[in-house]
Amino acid sequence: MTTSPYEHHDYDVLIIGAGGAGLRAAIEATQRGLKVGIVTKSLLGKAHTVMAEGGMAAAMGNVYPEDNWMVHFRDTMRGGKMLNNYRMAELHAKEAPDRVLELEQWGALFDRTKDGKILQRDFGGHRYARLAHVGDRTGLELIRTLQQKVVSMGTDVFMECKVLKLVHDDAGRIAGCVAYWRPNGEIVTFSAKAVILATGGVGKSWKFTSNSWEGTGDGHAMALWAGARLIDMECIQFHPTGMVWPLSVRGLLVTEGVRGDGGVLRNSEGKRFMFNYVADMFRAETAESEEEADKWYDDHTAGRRPPELLPRDEVARAINTEVKAGRGGPHGGVYLDIASRRSAEFIRRRLPSMYHQFMELAGVDITREAMEIGPTCHYIMGGVQVDADTTATSVPGLFAAGEVAAGLHGANRLGGNSLSDLIVFGRRAGMGAADYVENGHAAEGFDMGEVEAAVKEAIAPFDRTSGENPYDIQRDLQEMMQTNVGIIRTASEIDEALVQLDGFTERVRNIAVKGGRAYNPGWNLATDLPSMLSVCKCVALGARERKESRGGHTREDFPKADPEFGKFNFAHSTSGGNWDSAITTAQSPLLVIPEELKTLLEEAK
Ligand code: FUM
Repeated sequence: MTTSPYEHHDYDVLIIGAGGAGLRAAIEATQRGLKVGIVTKSLLGKAHTVMAEGGMAAAMGNVYPEDNWMVHFRDTMRGGKMLNNYRMAELHAKEAPDRVLELEQWGALFDRTKDGKILQRDFGGHRYARLAHVGDRTGLELIRTLQQKVVSMGTDVFMECKVLKLVHDDAGRIAGCVAYWRPNGEIVTFSAKAVILATGGVGKSWKFTSNSWEGTGDGHAMALWAGARLIDMECIQFHPTGMVWPLSVRGLLVTEGVRGDGGVLRNSEGKRFMFNYVADMFRAETAESEEEADKWYDDHTAGRRPPELLPRDEVARAINTEVKAGRGGPHGGVYLDIASRRSAEFIRRRLPSMYHQFMELAGVDITREAMEIGPTCHYIMGGVQVDADTTATSVPGLFAAGEVAAGLHGANRLGGNSLSDLIVFGRRAGMGAADYVENGHAAEGFDMGEVEAAVKEAIAPFDRTSGENPYDIQRDLQEMMQTNVGIIRTASEIDEALVQLDGFTERVRNIAVKGGRAYNPGWNLATDLPSMLSVCKCVALGARERKESRGGHTREDFPKADPEFGKFNFAHSTSGGNWDSAITTAQSPLLVIPEELKTLLEEAK
């Protein structure tokens, strides 16, 4: 029995985060008869999951019967530049089709083939049309479906409740967490036998991002502070196509579905420049001419893939190079053109949100004109190191799923593999946590010392009469990370970032906040900044150590992949337990791929 002086709740399984992974985990654990609570700092239904617009990848074979889990496994590993946890890639490829069908049974309304099956669309790096989708609103439909299921099961949901820190028992097991209500600033504690992190990503530390205000890496940071390891943090995905103007919406996602459905990229000279950027690894399967590329849309066996459908890391780097070479548009982007290739009816039917988004926000009619787009920070491949089968972290009682967890995507995620990640590993997290609880591995006790220390630190900014405004710090941090740890990196920029991050640490220690604790966005940001800094430090440390280019980590001074660096992840940990504790970085060897799966990497077509 926990004695907390604050409002207190007790659960078997507590889930932090209400995106796709959190909701799917909640369904699984609730179905096991456990008492489950979900805590979200945002609102139910509002998660970055909705920004995976174009679809969820699953080798269902509805459009190309040749597709199967083995090809999906191969594509995911190759897209991740072989830094992946092979077991996660295997489970993901095998289980995704059943998870999609389950969503359909729960009410998701997917687009259909002519013969009534779930329609699948093309996306970069996937050998076959593989993305089950609902126009360009797939993430939204996934959230809507899962949310409805969770609500119908009666699972408790705490909205606008921001978790500050995980709490241990005396034996170092996770025992719950301490949080505050955003509406009134009051502290609330949760004890739980198992905690699942499903907090999403970290994009808000970069200037141009598709992430909304929630993407501050809270789960990554809390796991690190609690004693878990973070891996692959240097691998950040810059989605090739974000809006570049108007400035107020710069970074907003333009779905890869535009390219999947036939959109092409052109520079200011009107050239389809992607033909000039085909890496050796993809040359054999990539078309060499526009005619050949176009044939492929009609029949994937009749031609090779268009270069616009290379994996995202390749496309983002190419766009960056074109713009730097002076072949960009007036707002620093390049052109994404579907208007000259597809009918207005097709575009409006397949891409209704994109049509609306450009019309409303930029006054651009994408059925007539090209869109100017550029890379936007979208996703982090790095995160908490987990066991593939159970999603257990190295800290007893702590589990992680979705973007906060690492391993499935290696150095680069293929588009569409995020939504399927959420439902495959969200379910596995629910199962893993439920097994842990049912096997009697619960925490004993709840360290109120940890609670009080976290509360003291969180409210300290109100006691400072002079100090820094958190918004100034956030703006400078975003600018600094965009400049020094962006798409292309060098040793001197990364070193500069690490020096500056020490400076940011001092600034965060000196934040002052005015007003009360009720609905105080300045204070809310002040409680996010420690997480942002921990995450940025791990990203910069990993980027400094990885002296090669691989996936979402490109070093100008080491432009090629180095096979030696393909043998391990960089893992970050801290024994200090706090946001300003020293971080240690070490090599963590990759799992050895069994021979039968290695063969698939060579043979699957
Ligand atoms: O482009 C998109 O629709 C995003 C999908 C994803 O990140 O998986």
